[in-house]
Amino acid sequence: MPEYPGLIKSKLPKVGTTIFTVMSRLAQEHNAINLSQGFPDFGSDEALHDLVRTAMKNGHNQYAPMAGLMLLREQIATKTEELYGAIYHPDTEITVTAGATQAIYTAITAVVHEDDEVIIFTPAYDCYEPAIELNGGKSVIVQMHAPDYKIDWTHVRKLINPKTKMIIINTPHNPTATVFSKDDFLALEKLIANTDIIVLSDEVYEHIIFDEHKHYSASMFPKLAERSFIVSSFGKTFHNTGWKMGYCIAPETLMSEFRKVHQYVVFSVNTPAQFALAEYLKNESNYLSLSAFYQQKRDFFTSVIRNSKFEIIPSKGTYFQLLSYKNISDEKDTDFAVRLTIEHKLAAIPVSVFYNQHIDEKILRFCFAKNENTLEKAAEIINKIV
Ligand SMILES: Cc1ncc(COP(=O)(O)O)c(C=O)c1O
Repeated sequence: MPEYPGLIKSKLPKVGTTIFTVMSRLAQEHNAINLSQGFPDFGSDEALHDLVRTAMKNGHNQYAPMAGLMLLREQIATKTEELYGAIYHPDTEITVTAGATQAIYTAITAVVHEDDEVIIFTPAYDCYEPAIELNGGKSVIVQMHAPDYKIDWTHVRKLINPKTKMIIINTPHNPTATVFSKDDFLALEKLIANTDIIVLSDEVYEHIIFDEHKHYSASMFPKLAERSFIVSSFGKTFHNTGWKMGYCIAPETLMSEFRKVHQYVVFSVNTPAQFALAEYLKNESNYLSLSAFYQQKRDFFTSVIRNSKFEIIPSKGTYFQLLSYKNISDEKDTDFAVRLTIEHKLAAIPVSVFYNQHIDEKILRFCFAKNENTLEKAAEIINKIV
């Protein structure tokens, strides 16, 4: 094959295979229990599958409208108003997307220009930084630390300058399982008053929140909502991450720019799934029952490992549980995770991979969106490690 040294100049030279692929492959190779990747190992509701089949049989198999099926956008508007008291117009302020990932990429692409700065908080979900970079923006990193991963808003204030275009927040938070308090939102609201900063609020785990905690959405704070893109994911809410269905809500001025990009990234998303979700959302218990469902799993998992040498860092939302192994080993977390998979047959994600500077606080992330049987087997392994 002839060589063309100039053929490809990578736009993401630092990006390689993600840790999720690496750990899942390793888990498979070593026949390990896989609590690394964030998806359920149980089925989603048959009734929802039936609704998709019905939509297909009824001939809903062609392109959906660009912004999404109106029936579905109306249901999203109703849910948002009922839960958060916020009014979004289905016509102009709600767009159905191919998962939250596409919504995030689209929102960033719509507003971040060359040399704009975007503040992100690490550890962070991995899709924010590449999207900023692909658009010529610069990520400005604020680190959070175990065990409570609180944001120091006074520090954030010092980073704001005329180039700051966006702040990306995520609550409930992957990977730390922490949640924003009302005070966090009020601090953010105050911080960006009188600036041109746009907020991207990643709320994909909005329906998975535990104990006395409540999900505060950016949509509940009018001064924030007027400059926020808010994204959510049906994959997370209805146990079908493989469908890649999600949505974005934002005021019309932001949403019209969002749609300009959306129409050329994907144009529209899966039609039968949209019909099904529109129907399924009518029964609010389908999403309101989720917190109790996952809290039971979290409680089961933490109760069966409570006597282990791992330290449990409280999980307030999401389907992740952080465990510190600092009382067991001082190995690097990436090495410990690999050894856990190969020697003990249990896969988890080292939290350092969610920091761009690979900060290692000896903590692993375990996904408990699994059957009790899987969690029990994982616990047996955890309890034996000393
Ligand atoms: C914080 C966060 N945001 C966004 C996503 C992506 O969601 P989706 O699968 O709907 O694209 C995930 C998935 O793991 C996530 O954890």
